[in-house]
Amino acid sequence: MNDVIVVASGKGGTGKSTVCVGLSVALVKQNKKVLLIDCDCGMRGLDLMLDVEEEILFDCSDAICGNCKPSDAVYRSKNLDGLFLMAAPFDTDNEISPSVFKQLVNDLKNDYDYVIIDSPAGIGSGFATAAAPSDRALIVANAEPTSIRGAVKIRTRLSGLEIDDIRLVINKFDRKQFEQLGCYEDLDEIIDVVEVRLIALVPFDVRLSATLQNGCAGLNWSPAITVFDCLAKRIDGIDVPLAFKG
Ligand SMILES: Nc1ncnc2c1ncn2[C@@H]1O[C@H](COP(=O)(O)OP(=O)(O)OP(=O)(O)O)[C@@H](O)[C@H]1O
Ligand SMILES: [Mg+2]
Repeated sequence: MNDVIVVASGKGGTGKSTVCVGLSVALVKQNKKVLLIDCDCGMRGLDLMLDVEEEILFDCSDAICGNCKPSDAVYRSKNLDGLFLMAAPFDTDNEISPSVFKQLVNDLKNDYDYVIIDSPAGIGSGFATAAAPSDRALIVANAEPTSIRGAVKIRTRLSGLEIDDIRLVINKFDRKQFEQLGCYEDLDEIIDVVEVRLIALVPFDVRLSATLQNGCAGLNWSPAITVFDCLAKRIDGIDVPLAFKG
């Protein structure tokens, strides 16, 4: 199996990159070999979250332009055996076309159990490129109307790209805030609006945020980490209940 999963959201800042790192680390802990690709061209962040920014020599545009072999643009994590990162270009001078990116991923994917692609926010060309090689998708949304509207737009676009294996991750969930907002009766209402099944409910977890923003994916335990472990199992087809139900 070598599933390619794009992590997308209509609205920015929902937690796509955080979910990419959390899921990838959890999959590696479950003995999967994972290639994490940052496709947020010009706004890359996974190298910072993994604390390897000084070690990135090449990015995916170097591989595409022939500045290096595709395998040379893949960084092997020294901290976590089984985790590999391909960075996005630091600038956006060369926009990457969906077909070229798809070819690059196709050339690499057989070496991994999973390829996780971090998408830029929105439904523009950057999203189309990130989604092009993907068989599956995770939509990351927060439990508020602006974010949910973005999720609906992304779901429509994904269906248009014939990616039908789509699941919803509701991130940064806080029950008290959700009830105070009073926009939705319950989480089922959100799931009905997006028309995508929920695969994970990730709590608002300041320890997770602080750890990743400080450039270290090595957080051993926090409420969100438990959820990512469970998400990785569910992604892998193992039928476990949601780790957190809000
Ligand atoms: N479960 C969570 N609990 C608390 N903070 C979180 C959680 N998930 C993400 N964050 C924080 O929210 C902010 C945005 O997260 P992140 O960068 O992952 O979002 P994004 O969707 O990738 O953003 P962009 O659209 O800019 O790429 C960061 O400060 C991150 O640490
Ligand atoms: Mg991001």
